[in-house]
Amino acid sequence: MQSVKSIFAIAPLSLLAGLAVSVAAPVAADEADAGLVRGDEIYRGICATCHGPEGGPDHDSALVKSLGVVPANFADPLFNSREPMSDWKIVVTYGGPALGFSEQMPAFGGSLSEQDIDAVLTYIKTLGGEHDYPDGDLNLFLPIRTKKAFPEDEWVWKQRYTVKDGDNAWRNVFEYEFRVGQRGQGILELTHEVEGGDTNFGYFEPGFKYVLRHDRRNGFILTAAAQVGVPLESGSNWLFLPYLAYGKILSDAWTLQSHARIKFDLEDSDRHVAEFAGIVHWVDAPRPRWVFPGLELVAEVPFERGEEPNRKEAVQWSVLPQARIGLNKRGNIALNVGVEFPLNDRDRYDWRAWVYFIWDFADGGLREGW
Ligand code: HEC
Repeated sequence: MQSVKSIFAIAPLSLLAGLAVSVAAPVAADEADAGLVRGDEIYRGICATCHGPEGGPDHDSALVKSLGVVPANFADPLFNSREPMSDWKIVVTYGGPALGFSEQMPAFGGSLSEQDIDAVLTYIKTLGGEHDYPDGDLNLFLPIRTKKAFPEDEWVWKQRYTVKDGDNAWRNVFEYEFRVGQRGQGILELTHEVEGGDTNFGYFEPGFKYVLRHDRRNGFILTAAAQVGVPLESGSNWLFLPYLAYGKILSDAWTLQSHARIKFDLEDSDRHVAEFAGIVHWVDAPRPRWVFPGLELVAEVPFERGEEPNRKEAVQWSVLPQARIGLNKRGNIALNVGVEFPLNDRDRYDWRAWVYFIWDFADGGLREGW
């Protein structure tokens, strides 16, 4: 059972490496309290007229009606939790239009210090009340192969073009993900493939994801998920695909994500594969409309390696440099493009080009935020 040994050998590289990363130093309690008091003061003095004293705008007030757009409702825990503070900071500093919102949301960068803006944003985060939604800061960029831990509402169109000795293949995956309750997410995926002259639907993969742990303070999220692969053509086998996904904010500039997944072939146990993937992203840009490079490493461990002369390596490695490209100002409409190269067992393919189109629809429609 060479392959099982290998699983243990590389598991630390993906999941555990992240778990071991240091814990952020806690802010002194009174310093944090002082910030909240200051934030409360600023909120009441400046923001409450439009956003409402408790964080929910008063739809009947003459002022709110005159704005022509309803100010954000910070008392709604789902909305409050899912928005990353870094995006809010841009809006409060530079005004609504900076992220494609209404100009009725004024810019405060001239009148409030950066410290005050941080204080009011920290205060606003408390207006969502007690809840168990993971914080939007943990919503890290969707990688190409590594599974994402954060439960998000999104549409993703994934394309993969495989180049292999003139025998090329093009695969499309359409993915719809939607939040269920505070920690859950439903997944619906449909695969379509074109190879040679053949086109066919590959799999329908429904699934469910559940956040096991999320901790904004220490910057990590851990999620368990499973999908079932329902073959849409005869000749393909049923699959069961459970995984653990992990996300970690390493610093203001770097994030780490990783997963451990097993692809169980329910009709042919020789085709089970364990898969480990991890990625670091650089995230330190001033705006969501930016190019964010990342480097991903994938290790696949076949349970059965076959016979000589075509016996597979115990671990099949590939590397996948990529870039997240924010298209609109809000960055909720984005591309992720990358190229994957096999590092060993190179007859698998020469290289693969990947393009994802991502639309996080909770942050606005396809025509908003430009
Ligand atoms: C004159 C009214 C007004 C005032 C004063 C105001 N806002 Fe706003 N704010 C708005 C409106 C309107 C929007 C929604 C814009 C949209 O949806 O296009 C908004 C949006 C926001 C958002 C973006 C939320 C999102 O959708 O992601 C944040 C954050 C915010 N305001 C914070 C503040 C803070 C903090 C203050 C006080 C320092 C403040 N606002 C003062 C009107 C106001």
